[in-house]
Amino acid sequence: MRAILLNFLSLSAVFLLTHQQQQQPIKTVVVLVMENRSFDHLLGWMKKSVNPLINGVTGEECNSVSTEAGGNETICFSDDAGYVDPDPGHSFEDVAKQVFGSGFIPSMSGFVEQASSMSQNLSETVMKGFRPENVPIYTSLVQEFAVFDRWFSSIPGPTQPNRLFVYSATSHGSTSHVIKQLALGYPQNTIFDSLDENFLDFGVYFKNFPTTLFFRNMRKLKYAFKFHQYDLKFKKDARGGKLPSLTVIEPSYFDLIGFPADDDHPSHDVANGQKLVKEVYETLRASPQWNETLLIITYDEHGGFYDHVQTPFVNVPNPDGNIGPSPYFFKFDRLGVRVPTIMISTWIKKGTVVSKPNGPYPDSEFEHSSIPATIKKLLGLSSNFLTRRDAWAGTFDHIVTELNSPRTDCPEVLPDVVPLRRTETNEHKGLSEFQSELVQLAAVLNGDHFLSSIPGDTGKKMTVKQAHEYVKGAVSRFLEASKEAIKLGADKSTIVNMRSSLTTRSSVHG
Ligand SMILES: *[C@@H]1O[C@H](CO)[C@@H](O)[C@H](O)[C@H]1NC(C)=O
Ligand SMILES: *[C@@H]1O[C@H](CO)[C@@H](O)[C@H](O)[C@H]1NC(C)=O
Ligand SMILES: *[C@@H]1O[C@H](CO)[C@@H](O)[C@H](O)[C@H]1NC(C)=O
Ligand SMILES: *[C@@H]1O[C@H](CO)[C@@H](O)[C@H](O)[C@H]1NC(C)=O
Repeated sequence: MRAILLNFLSLSAVFLLTHQQQQQPIKTVVVLVMENRSFDHLLGWMKKSVNPLINGVTGEECNSVSTEAGGNETICFSDDAGYVDPDPGHSFEDVAKQVFGSGFIPSMSGFVEQASSMSQNLSETVMKGFRPENVPIYTSLVQEFAVFDRWFSSIPGPTQPNRLFVYSATSHGSTSHVIKQLALGYPQNTIFDSLDENFLDFGVYFKNFPTTLFFRNMRKLKYAFKFHQYDLKFKKDARGGKLPSLTVIEPSYFDLIGFPADDDHPSHDVANGQKLVKEVYETLRASPQWNETLLIITYDEHGGFYDHVQTPFVNVPNPDGNIGPSPYFFKFDRLGVRVPTIMISTWIKKGTVVSKPNGPYPDSEFEHSSIPATIKKLLGLSSNFLTRRDAWAGTFDHIVTELNSPRTDCPEVLPDVVPLRRTETNEHKGLSEFQSELVQLAAVLNGDHFLSSIPGDTGKKMTVKQAHEYVKGAVSRFLEASKEAIKLGADKSTIVNMRSSLTTRSSVHG
Protein backbone atom coordinates (compact mmCIF):
# COMPACT_ATOMS: atom_id res chain seq x y z
CA MET A 1 0.00 0.00 0.00
CA ARG A 2 2.80 2.37 1.00
CA ALA A 3 4.77 1.44 -2.09
CA ILE A 4 1.81 2.12 -4.32
CA LEU A 5 1.25 5.48 -2.79
CA LEU A 6 4.88 6.45 -3.23
CA ASN A 7 4.73 5.32 -6.81
CA PHE A 8 1.70 7.39 -7.43
CA LEU A 9 3.36 10.42 -5.85
CA SER A 10 6.48 10.16 -7.96
CA LEU A 11 4.42 9.66 -11.11
CA SER A 12 2.48 12.81 -10.47
CA ALA A 13 5.76 14.65 -9.76
CA VAL A 14 7.07 13.59 -13.16
CA PHE A 15 3.86 14.66 -14.78
CA LEU A 16 3.99 18.07 -13.11
CA LEU A 17 7.59 18.55 -14.15
CA THR A 18 7.06 17.78 -17.82
CA HIS A 19 3.92 19.81 -17.83
CA GLN A 20 5.79 22.81 -16.43
CA GLN A 21 8.66 22.31 -18.86
CA GLN A 22 6.31 22.31 -21.77
CA GLN A 23 4.77 25.52 -20.60
CA GLN A 24 7.95 27.37 -20.00
CA PRO A 25 11.41 26.48 -21.26
CA ILE A 26 13.43 29.36 -19.75
CA LYS A 27 15.81 28.70 -16.85
CA THR A 28 18.27 31.54 -17.35
CA VAL A 29 17.34 35.20 -17.74
CA VAL A 30 20.08 37.56 -18.89
CA VAL A 31 19.50 41.30 -18.41
CA LEU A 32 21.48 44.07 -20.09
CA VAL A 33 20.41 47.66 -19.32
CA MET A 34 21.88 50.30 -21.61
CA GLU A 35 21.81 54.08 -21.13
CA ASN A 36 19.78 57.08 -22.13
CA ARG A 37 18.16 56.61 -25.59
CA SER A 38 14.47 56.75 -26.55
CA PHE A 39 12.60 54.19 -28.66
CA ASP A 40 12.07 56.51 -31.63
CA HIS A 41 15.72 57.59 -31.54
CA LEU A 42 17.08 54.04 -31.84
CA LEU A 43 14.28 51.97 -33.39
CA GLY A 44 11.61 54.41 -34.64
CA TRP A 45 12.66 54.22 -38.30
CA MET A 46 12.43 50.42 -38.30
CA LYS A 47 8.70 50.77 -38.95
CA LYS A 48 9.49 51.93 -42.47
CA SER A 49 12.11 49.43 -43.56
CA VAL A 50 12.22 46.55 -41.07
CA ASN A 51 8.70 45.76 -39.86
CA PRO A 52 5.58 47.87 -40.58
CA LEU A 53 3.89 46.50 -37.44
CA ILE A 54 6.25 48.52 -35.23
CA ASN A 55 4.81 51.72 -33.74
CA GLY A 56 7.62 53.89 -35.06
CA VAL A 57 7.98 57.17 -36.91
CA THR A 58 7.12 58.49 -40.37
CA GLY A 59 8.84 61.86 -40.21
CA GLU A 60 5.54 63.70 -39.60
CA GLU A 61 6.33 63.92 -35.88
CA CYS A 62 7.16 67.53 -35.07
CA ASN A 63 7.69 69.75 -32.04
CA SER A 64 7.27 73.54 -31.96
CA VAL A 65 10.32 75.54 -31.14
CA SER A 66 8.12 77.26 -28.58
CA THR A 67 5.16 75.51 -26.98
CA GLU A 68 3.63 78.80 -25.77
CA ALA A 69 0.79 80.17 -27.94
CA GLY A 70 1.89 81.84 -31.16
CA GLY A 71 4.94 79.71 -32.00
CA ASN A 72 4.68 78.24 -35.48
CA GLU A 73 8.26 77.20 -36.16
CA THR A 74 8.73 73.44 -35.82
CA ILE A 75 11.42 70.81 -36.03
CA CYS A 76 10.37 67.39 -37.32
CA PHE A 77 11.83 63.96 -36.75
CA SER A 78 14.62 63.03 -39.15
CA ASP A 79 16.68 59.91 -39.84
CA ASP A 80 20.20 61.27 -39.65
CA ALA A 81 21.13 60.50 -36.04
CA GLY A 82 24.80 59.88 -35.62
CA TYR A 83 27.34 60.44 -32.97
CA VAL A 84 25.88 62.70 -30.21
CA ASP A 85 27.80 65.08 -27.97
CA PRO A 86 26.77 66.82 -25.71
CA ASP A 87 24.16 65.05 -23.68
CA PRO A 88 20.49 66.19 -23.87
CA GLY A 89 18.57 66.93 -20.64
CA HIS A 90 16.81 64.19 -18.74
CA SER A 91 16.36 65.27 -15.15
CA PHE A 92 12.87 65.12 -13.63
CA GLU A 93 12.25 68.79 -14.52
CA ASP A 94 13.63 68.39 -18.06
CA VAL A 95 11.45 65.37 -18.73
CA ALA A 96 8.33 67.11 -17.41
CA LYS A 97 8.97 69.90 -19.93
CA GLN A 98 9.58 67.43 -22.78
CA VAL A 99 6.47 65.41 -22.07
CA PHE A 100 3.96 68.15 -21.23
CA GLY A 101 5.22 71.10 -23.29
CA SER A 102 3.14 73.87 -21.74
CA GLY A 103 -0.01 71.75 -21.32
CA PHE A 104 -1.37 69.42 -18.67
CA ILE A 105 -1.43 66.05 -20.41
CA PRO A 106 1.52 64.23 -21.98
CA SER A 107 1.56 65.61 -25.53
CA MET A 108 5.24 64.81 -26.17
CA SER A 109 5.52 68.36 -27.55
CA GLY A 110 8.27 69.97 -25.50
CA PHE A 111 11.42 68.10 -26.54
CA VAL A 112 12.64 70.77 -28.94
CA GLU A 113 11.93 73.64 -26.60
CA GLN A 114 13.57 71.93 -23.64
CA ALA A 115 16.65 71.07 -25.73
CA SER A 116 16.97 74.58 -27.15
CA SER A 117 16.93 75.94 -23.61
CA MET A 118 20.18 73.99 -23.15
CA SER A 119 21.86 74.81 -26.47
CA GLN A 120 20.82 75.85 -29.96
CA ASN A 121 21.94 72.74 -31.85
CA LEU A 122 20.64 70.28 -29.33
CA SER A 123 17.04 70.81 -30.47
CA GLU A 124 17.84 69.25 -33.84
CA THR A 125 19.83 66.47 -32.20
CA VAL A 126 16.94 65.27 -30.04
CA MET A 127 14.68 65.04 -33.11
CA LYS A 128 16.96 62.63 -34.97
CA GLY A 129 16.62 58.86 -35.18
CA PHE A 130 19.05 56.25 -36.46
CA ARG A 131 18.68 54.73 -39.87
CA PRO A 132 18.41 50.95 -39.31
CA GLU A 133 21.71 50.33 -41.11
CA ASN A 134 23.50 52.43 -38.49
CA VAL A 135 22.29 50.14 -35.68
CA PRO A 136 22.82 46.86 -37.57
CA ILE A 137 22.76 44.62 -34.51
CA TYR A 138 19.35 45.88 -33.40
CA THR A 139 18.09 45.63 -36.96
CA SER A 140 18.89 41.95 -37.10
CA LEU A 141 17.65 41.25 -33.58
CA VAL A 142 14.35 43.01 -34.34
CA GLN A 143 14.02 40.95 -37.54
CA GLU A 144 14.84 37.69 -35.79
CA PHE A 145 13.30 38.01 -32.33
CA ALA A 146 10.95 40.32 -30.36
CA VAL A 147 10.77 44.09 -30.09
CA PHE A 148 8.54 45.77 -27.50
CA ASP A 149 7.09 49.00 -28.90
CA ARG A 150 5.22 50.04 -25.76
CA TRP A 151 7.75 49.72 -22.95
CA PHE A 152 8.26 52.76 -20.74
CA SER A 153 10.87 53.77 -18.25
CA SER A 154 9.42 53.50 -14.75
CA ILE A 155 9.71 57.14 -13.81
CA PRO A 156 9.98 60.29 -15.94
CA GLY A 157 13.45 61.03 -14.64
CA PRO A 158 17.10 60.05 -14.73
CA THR A 159 19.27 56.96 -14.70
CA GLN A 160 19.59 55.78 -11.11
CA PRO A 161 15.91 55.75 -10.10
CA ASN A 162 15.06 53.88 -13.29
CA ARG A 163 17.85 51.36 -12.79
CA LEU A 164 16.58 50.78 -9.25
CA PHE A 165 13.13 49.91 -10.64
CA VAL A 166 14.59 47.21 -12.90
CA TYR A 167 15.59 45.10 -9.91
CA SER A 168 13.32 46.34 -7.10
CA ALA A 169 10.16 47.86 -8.69
CA THR A 170 10.69 51.12 -6.78
CA SER A 171 13.26 53.87 -6.39
CA HIS A 172 12.32 54.23 -2.73
CA GLY A 173 11.07 57.77 -3.33
CA SER A 174 14.05 59.06 -5.33
CA THR A 175 13.36 61.04 -8.49
CA SER A 176 16.98 62.00 -8.94
CA HIS A 177 20.36 60.87 -7.81
CA VAL A 178 20.28 61.25 -4.05
CA ILE A 179 23.86 61.12 -2.94
CA LYS A 180 23.19 60.37 0.70
CA GLN A 181 20.86 57.50 -0.18
CA LEU A 182 23.27 56.14 -2.75
CA ALA A 183 25.99 56.12 -0.11
CA LEU A 184 23.84 54.47 2.56
CA GLY A 185 22.53 52.03 0.03
CA TYR A 186 18.88 51.70 -0.97
CA PRO A 187 17.07 49.60 1.67
CA GLN A 188 14.34 47.90 -0.39
CA ASN A 189 14.20 44.22 -1.26
CA THR A 190 15.32 43.25 -4.73
CA ILE A 191 14.64 40.46 -7.17
CA PHE A 192 18.11 39.17 -6.22
CA ASP A 193 16.86 38.65 -2.65
CA SER A 194 13.83 36.81 -4.02
CA LEU A 195 16.09 34.47 -5.99
CA ASP A 196 18.24 33.92 -2.94
CA GLU A 197 15.18 33.07 -0.82
CA ASN A 198 14.23 30.52 -3.44
CA PHE A 199 17.73 28.98 -3.49
CA LEU A 200 18.38 30.17 -7.02
CA ASP A 201 21.65 31.69 -8.11
CA PHE A 202 22.35 35.07 -9.66
CA GLY A 203 25.44 36.85 -10.91
CA VAL A 204 26.42 40.37 -11.88
CA TYR A 205 29.05 40.51 -14.63
CA PHE A 206 30.45 44.03 -14.64
CA LYS A 207 32.96 45.80 -16.83
CA ASN A 208 34.15 48.54 -14.50
CA PHE A 209 31.61 48.95 -11.77
CA PRO A 210 28.45 47.12 -10.64
CA THR A 211 25.73 49.74 -10.15
CA THR A 212 23.66 47.03 -8.44
CA LEU A 213 25.77 47.88 -5.35
CA PHE A 214 23.50 50.93 -4.98
CA PHE A 215 21.20 48.45 -3.20
CA ARG A 216 22.25 48.03 0.38
CA ASN A 217 21.39 44.32 0.45
CA MET A 218 23.75 43.67 -2.45
CA ARG A 219 26.66 44.78 -0.27
CA LYS A 220 26.03 41.95 2.21
CA LEU A 221 28.80 39.42 2.65
CA LYS A 222 26.63 36.58 1.41
CA TYR A 223 26.54 38.15 -2.04
CA ALA A 224 30.26 38.90 -2.37
CA PHE A 225 30.76 35.90 -4.63
CA LYS A 226 27.99 36.98 -7.00
CA PHE A 227 30.02 39.76 -8.61
CA HIS A 228 32.24 38.85 -11.53
CA GLN A 229 34.53 40.69 -13.90
CA TYR A 230 32.77 40.49 -17.26
CA ASP A 231 36.00 40.11 -19.20
CA LEU A 232 37.26 37.23 -17.09
CA LYS A 233 34.08 35.30 -16.47
CA PHE A 234 31.14 35.93 -18.78
CA LYS A 235 32.30 33.96 -21.82
CA LYS A 236 33.83 31.29 -19.62
CA ASP A 237 30.64 30.70 -17.63
CA ALA A 238 28.52 30.77 -20.79
CA ARG A 239 30.77 28.22 -22.50
CA GLY A 240 30.72 26.00 -19.44
CA GLY A 241 26.92 26.19 -19.14
CA LYS A 242 27.33 27.86 -15.74
CA LEU A 243 25.45 31.12 -16.14
CA PRO A 244 23.24 31.65 -13.08
CA SER A 245 19.43 31.80 -13.24
CA LEU A 246 19.57 35.60 -13.28
CA THR A 247 22.58 36.95 -15.09
CA VAL A 248 23.06 40.71 -15.11
CA ILE A 249 25.54 42.36 -17.45
CA GLU A 250 26.74 45.85 -16.62
CA PRO A 251 28.33 47.67 -19.56
CA SER A 252 31.34 49.93 -19.33
CA TYR A 253 30.41 53.40 -18.10
CA PHE A 254 33.85 54.97 -18.68
CA ASP A 255 35.22 55.85 -22.11
CA LEU A 256 38.94 54.99 -22.28
CA ILE A 257 41.41 54.71 -25.12
CA GLY A 258 41.41 51.09 -26.21
CA PHE A 259 38.47 50.30 -23.87
CA PRO A 260 35.56 52.41 -25.09
CA ALA A 261 32.41 52.83 -23.03
CA ASP A 262 29.67 50.65 -24.45
CA ASP A 263 26.64 51.81 -22.48
CA ASP A 264 25.35 54.01 -25.37
CA HIS A 265 25.21 57.09 -23.19
CA PRO A 266 26.04 60.31 -25.12
CA SER A 267 28.82 61.13 -25.90
CA HIS A 268 29.69 57.45 -26.01
CA ASP A 269 29.52 55.92 -29.49
CA VAL A 270 26.43 53.74 -30.07
CA ALA A 271 28.62 51.51 -32.24
CA ASN A 272 30.38 50.27 -29.11
CA GLY A 273 27.04 49.41 -27.50
CA GLN A 274 26.20 47.49 -30.69
CA LYS A 275 29.46 45.57 -30.36
CA LEU A 276 28.66 44.65 -26.77
CA VAL A 277 25.20 43.41 -27.71
CA LYS A 278 26.69 41.41 -30.58
CA GLU A 279 29.23 39.82 -28.26
CA VAL A 280 26.64 38.95 -25.61
CA TYR A 281 24.29 37.46 -28.21
CA GLU A 282 26.95 35.39 -29.96
CA THR A 283 28.25 34.14 -26.61
CA LEU A 284 24.78 33.00 -25.52
CA ARG A 285 24.03 31.55 -28.95
CA ALA A 286 27.11 29.32 -28.64
CA SER A 287 26.40 28.33 -25.04
CA PRO A 288 25.00 24.94 -24.02
CA GLN A 289 22.39 27.03 -22.15
CA TRP A 290 21.09 28.66 -25.33
CA ASN A 291 17.87 26.64 -25.47
CA GLU A 292 16.86 27.75 -21.99
CA THR A 293 17.97 31.37 -22.08
CA LEU A 294 16.04 34.62 -22.46
CA LEU A 295 18.12 37.74 -23.13
CA ILE A 296 16.48 41.09 -22.28
CA ILE A 297 17.98 44.32 -23.59
CA THR A 298 16.47 47.59 -22.43
CA TYR A 299 17.37 51.22 -21.76
CA ASP A 300 17.13 52.84 -18.34
CA GLU A 301 15.59 56.03 -19.75
CA HIS A 302 15.21 58.05 -22.92
CA GLY A 303 18.15 60.40 -22.38
CA GLY A 304 16.28 63.51 -23.54
CA PHE A 305 15.65 62.16 -27.05
CA TYR A 306 12.22 62.59 -28.62
CA ASP A 307 9.58 59.88 -28.56
CA HIS A 308 6.09 60.26 -29.98
CA VAL A 309 4.13 57.84 -27.72
CA GLN A 310 2.27 59.56 -24.87
CA THR A 311 3.57 58.55 -21.48
CA PRO A 312 0.91 56.70 -19.43
CA PHE A 313 -0.55 58.70 -16.55
CA VAL A 314 -3.78 56.92 -15.62
CA ASN A 315 -4.00 54.42 -12.74
CA VAL A 316 -0.25 53.91 -12.47
CA PRO A 317 0.21 52.70 -8.88
CA ASN A 318 2.64 54.26 -6.46
CA PRO A 319 4.99 51.37 -5.59
CA ASP A 320 5.41 51.65 -1.84
CA GLY A 321 3.86 54.86 -0.48
CA ASN A 322 7.04 56.92 -0.92
CA ILE A 323 6.61 60.41 -2.40
CA GLY A 324 9.29 62.38 -4.22
CA PRO A 325 11.01 65.40 -2.67
CA SER A 326 9.94 69.05 -2.83
CA PRO A 327 9.10 71.04 -4.89
CA TYR A 328 7.28 68.43 -7.04
CA PHE A 329 6.30 65.80 -4.42
CA PHE A 330 6.04 63.32 -7.27
CA LYS A 331 3.57 60.56 -6.45
CA PHE A 332 5.14 57.98 -8.78
CA ASP A 333 1.84 57.83 -10.59
CA ARG A 334 2.96 58.25 -14.19
CA LEU A 335 5.57 56.48 -16.28
CA GLY A 336 8.61 57.82 -18.10
CA VAL A 337 9.26 58.06 -21.84
CA ARG A 338 9.16 54.96 -24.06
CA VAL A 339 12.50 53.18 -24.39
CA PRO A 340 13.75 50.42 -26.71
CA THR A 341 13.35 46.87 -25.41
CA ILE A 342 14.38 43.79 -27.37
CA MET A 343 14.10 40.17 -26.25
CA ILE A 344 15.97 37.23 -27.62
CA SER A 345 15.42 33.51 -27.24
CA THR A 346 15.27 30.54 -29.52
CA TRP A 347 11.66 30.16 -28.28
CA ILE A 348 10.55 33.52 -29.69
CA LYS A 349 8.82 33.64 -33.07
CA LYS A 350 10.78 35.48 -35.73
CA GLY A 351 9.69 39.11 -36.18
CA THR A 352 7.55 39.38 -33.03
CA VAL A 353 6.24 42.86 -32.12
CA VAL A 354 4.81 43.16 -28.61
CA SER A 355 2.66 46.18 -27.73
CA LYS A 356 0.34 46.56 -24.75
CA PRO A 357 0.21 43.70 -22.20
CA ASN A 358 -2.96 41.72 -21.40
CA GLY A 359 -3.32 42.65 -17.74
CA PRO A 360 -2.96 41.90 -14.94
CA TYR A 361 -4.94 45.19 -14.69
CA PRO A 362 -6.79 47.00 -17.48
CA ASP A 363 -4.23 49.84 -17.44
CA SER A 364 -1.13 47.68 -16.93
CA GLU A 365 1.82 48.60 -19.10
CA PHE A 366 5.25 47.22 -19.80
CA GLU A 367 7.84 49.12 -17.81
CA HIS A 368 11.04 48.17 -15.98
CA SER A 369 9.13 46.51 -13.12
CA SER A 370 7.87 44.03 -15.74
CA ILE A 371 11.32 42.43 -15.48
CA PRO A 372 11.13 41.33 -11.81
CA ALA A 373 7.41 40.53 -12.30
CA THR A 374 8.20 38.19 -15.19
CA ILE A 375 11.28 36.65 -13.56
CA LYS A 376 9.03 35.76 -10.61
CA LYS A 377 6.74 33.89 -13.00
CA LEU A 378 9.37 32.31 -15.24
CA LEU A 379 11.50 31.01 -12.40
CA GLY A 380 8.50 30.14 -10.24
CA LEU A 381 9.60 32.24 -7.25
CA SER A 382 7.39 31.88 -4.20
CA SER A 383 8.44 35.31 -2.83
CA ASN A 384 5.92 38.12 -2.73
CA PHE A 385 5.87 40.86 -5.30
CA LEU A 386 8.48 43.49 -4.45
CA THR A 387 6.02 46.43 -4.52
CA ARG A 388 2.61 47.39 -5.87
CA ARG A 389 4.32 48.33 -9.13
CA ASP A 390 5.63 44.89 -10.17
CA ALA A 391 2.26 43.46 -9.11
CA TRP A 392 0.71 45.84 -11.66
CA ALA A 393 3.25 45.75 -14.51
CA GLY A 394 2.60 43.60 -17.58
CA THR A 395 4.49 40.30 -17.83
CA PHE A 396 5.96 38.87 -21.01
CA ASP A 397 6.40 35.16 -20.24
CA HIS A 398 3.99 34.36 -23.09
CA ILE A 399 6.57 35.25 -25.75
CA VAL A 400 8.51 32.06 -25.00
CA THR A 401 5.53 29.72 -24.92
CA GLU A 402 4.24 30.09 -28.46
CA LEU A 403 6.51 27.56 -30.16
CA ASN A 404 6.47 23.81 -29.58
CA SER A 405 10.18 23.36 -30.03
CA PRO A 406 13.20 25.66 -30.05
CA ARG A 407 14.11 27.30 -33.34
CA THR A 408 17.16 26.01 -35.14
CA ASP A 409 17.42 28.93 -37.58
CA CYS A 410 18.75 31.64 -35.22
CA PRO A 411 21.87 33.32 -36.63
CA GLU A 412 25.14 32.30 -34.99
CA VAL A 413 26.88 35.51 -35.96
CA LEU A 414 25.46 39.04 -36.21
CA PRO A 415 26.63 41.69 -38.72
CA ASP A 416 29.81 43.69 -38.22
CA VAL A 417 29.60 47.12 -36.63
CA VAL A 418 31.22 50.26 -38.03
CA PRO A 419 32.20 53.07 -35.61
CA LEU A 420 30.16 56.29 -35.90
CA ARG A 421 32.50 58.53 -33.99
CA ARG A 422 35.52 59.65 -35.96
CA THR A 423 37.48 61.33 -33.17
CA GLU A 424 39.56 59.58 -30.49
CA THR A 425 38.07 59.57 -27.01
CA ASN A 426 39.28 62.10 -24.47
CA GLU A 427 39.93 60.17 -21.30
CA HIS A 428 41.25 63.29 -19.58
CA LYS A 429 37.95 65.11 -19.60
CA GLY A 430 35.81 65.67 -16.49
CA LEU A 431 33.10 63.27 -15.32
CA SER A 432 29.43 63.14 -16.25
CA GLU A 433 26.97 63.34 -13.38
CA PHE A 434 26.49 59.58 -13.49
CA GLN A 435 30.21 58.89 -13.44
CA SER A 436 30.66 61.10 -10.37
CA GLU A 437 27.91 59.12 -8.63
CA LEU A 438 29.83 55.95 -9.31
CA VAL A 439 32.90 57.58 -7.78
CA GLN A 440 30.84 58.54 -4.73
CA LEU A 441 29.61 55.00 -4.26
CA ALA A 442 33.16 53.73 -4.73
CA ALA A 443 34.27 56.16 -2.02
CA VAL A 444 31.70 54.64 0.33
CA LEU A 445 32.79 51.08 -0.41
CA ASN A 446 36.37 52.14 0.05
CA GLY A 447 35.82 54.01 3.29
CA ASP A 448 37.12 57.24 1.77
CA HIS A 449 33.85 59.14 2.28
CA PHE A 450 34.68 59.51 5.97
CA LEU A 451 37.59 61.74 5.03
CA SER A 452 36.65 65.38 5.28
CA SER A 453 39.10 66.06 2.45
CA ILE A 454 36.84 63.99 0.17
CA PRO A 455 33.33 65.35 0.70
CA GLY A 456 30.24 64.55 -1.35
CA ASP A 457 31.88 65.77 -4.48
CA THR A 458 34.69 63.23 -4.72
CA GLY A 459 35.41 62.99 -8.34
CA LYS A 460 34.78 66.64 -9.19
CA LYS A 461 38.46 66.93 -9.90
CA MET A 462 39.01 63.49 -11.41
CA THR A 463 39.38 62.76 -15.09
CA VAL A 464 37.53 59.84 -16.68
CA LYS A 465 40.73 57.79 -16.63
CA GLN A 466 41.46 58.52 -12.96
CA ALA A 467 37.86 57.86 -11.95
CA HIS A 468 37.89 54.54 -13.77
CA GLU A 469 41.00 53.44 -11.89
CA TYR A 470 39.54 54.65 -8.61
CA VAL A 471 36.22 52.81 -8.91
CA LYS A 472 37.85 49.62 -10.17
CA GLY A 473 40.25 49.64 -7.23
CA ALA A 474 37.48 50.40 -4.76
CA VAL A 475 35.17 47.64 -5.86
CA SER A 476 37.90 45.03 -5.92
CA ARG A 477 39.12 46.04 -2.42
CA PHE A 478 35.55 45.89 -1.14
CA LEU A 479 34.82 42.47 -2.64
CA GLU A 480 38.17 41.08 -1.49
CA ALA A 481 37.59 42.35 2.06
CA SER A 482 34.09 40.85 2.05
CA LYS A 483 35.40 37.46 0.93
CA GLU A 484 38.11 37.64 3.58
CA ALA A 485 35.49 38.40 6.24
CA ILE A 486 33.50 35.34 5.16
CA LYS A 487 36.58 33.17 5.57
CA LEU A 488 37.03 34.60 9.07
CA GLY A 489 33.48 33.49 9.87
CA ALA A 490 31.69 36.84 9.92
CA ASP A 491 27.89 36.83 9.84
CA LYS A 492 26.84 36.67 6.21
CA SER A 493 24.14 39.28 6.49
CA THR A 494 26.58 41.99 7.59
CA ILE A 495 28.29 44.53 5.39
CA VAL A 496 32.00 45.26 5.48
CA ASN A 497 32.85 48.80 6.55
CA MET A 498 36.18 49.70 5.01
CA ARG A 499 38.62 52.10 6.61
CA SER A 500 39.91 54.61 4.13
CA SER A 501 43.05 53.46 2.36
CA LEU A 502 44.41 56.93 3.04
CA THR A 503 43.82 56.80 6.83
CA THR A 504 45.11 53.23 6.94
CA ARG A 505 48.27 54.38 5.26
CA SER A 506 48.70 57.29 7.60
CA SER A 507 48.14 55.10 10.66
CA VAL A 508 50.72 52.61 9.40
CA HIS A 509 53.28 55.24 8.71
CA GLY A 510 52.35 57.69 11.44
C1 LIG B 1 4.93 82.08 -38.56
O1 LIG B 1 4.08 83.15 -38.20
C2 LIG B 1 4.53 84.41 -38.68
C3 LIG B 1 3.62 85.49 -38.10
O2 LIG B 1 2.43 84.96 -37.65
C4 LIG B 1 4.53 84.41 -40.20
O3 LIG B 1 5.02 85.63 -40.68
C5 LIG B 1 5.45 83.29 -40.68
O4 LIG B 1 5.40 83.19 -42.08
C6 LIG B 1 5.03 81.96 -40.07
N1 LIG B 1 6.02 80.94 -40.40
C7 LIG B 1 5.69 79.74 -40.82
C8 LIG B 1 6.83 78.80 -41.09
O5 LIG B 1 4.54 79.38 -40.99
C1 LIG C 1 25.69 74.34 -34.53
O1 LIG C 1 25.38 74.07 -35.87
C2 LIG C 1 25.96 74.98 -36.78
C3 LIG C 1 25.41 74.69 -38.16
O2 LIG C 1 25.21 73.33 -38.37
C4 LIG C 1 27.48 74.84 -36.69
O3 LIG C 1 28.10 75.75 -37.59
C5 LIG C 1 27.91 75.14 -35.27
O4 LIG C 1 29.30 74.92 -35.14
C6 LIG C 1 27.18 74.28 -34.28
N1 LIG C 1 27.48 74.68 -32.94
C7 LIG C 1 27.85 73.84 -31.98
C8 LIG C 1 28.09 74.44 -30.63
O5 LIG C 1 27.99 72.64 -32.16
C1 LIG D 1 21.98 59.27 -18.03
O1 LIG D 1 21.26 60.40 -17.72
C2 LIG D 1 21.36 60.88 -16.39
C3 LIG D 1 20.50 62.04 -16.19
O2 LIG D 1 19.21 61.71 -16.39
C4 LIG D 1 22.74 61.31 -16.12
O3 LIG D 1 22.86 61.76 -14.78
C5 LIG D 1 23.62 60.14 -16.33
O4 LIG D 1 24.93 60.64 -16.25
C6 LIG D 1 23.40 59.49 -17.68
N1 LIG D 1 24.10 58.24 -17.72
C7 LIG D 1 25.41 58.09 -17.93
C8 LIG D 1 25.94 56.71 -18.01
O5 LIG D 1 26.16 59.02 -18.11
C1 LIG E 1 18.73 23.39 -28.98
O1 LIG E 1 17.64 22.70 -29.50
C2 LIG E 1 17.78 22.36 -30.86
C3 LIG E 1 16.47 21.75 -31.34
O2 LIG E 1 16.08 20.71 -30.51
C4 LIG E 1 18.95 21.40 -31.03
O3 LIG E 1 19.14 21.10 -32.39
C5 LIG E 1 20.20 22.10 -30.49
O4 LIG E 1 21.30 21.22 -30.53
C6 LIG E 1 19.98 22.56 -29.08
N1 LIG E 1 21.12 23.39 -28.70
C7 LIG E 1 21.73 23.25 -27.53
C8 LIG E 1 22.88 24.16 -27.28
O5 LIG E 1 21.38 22.43 -26.69
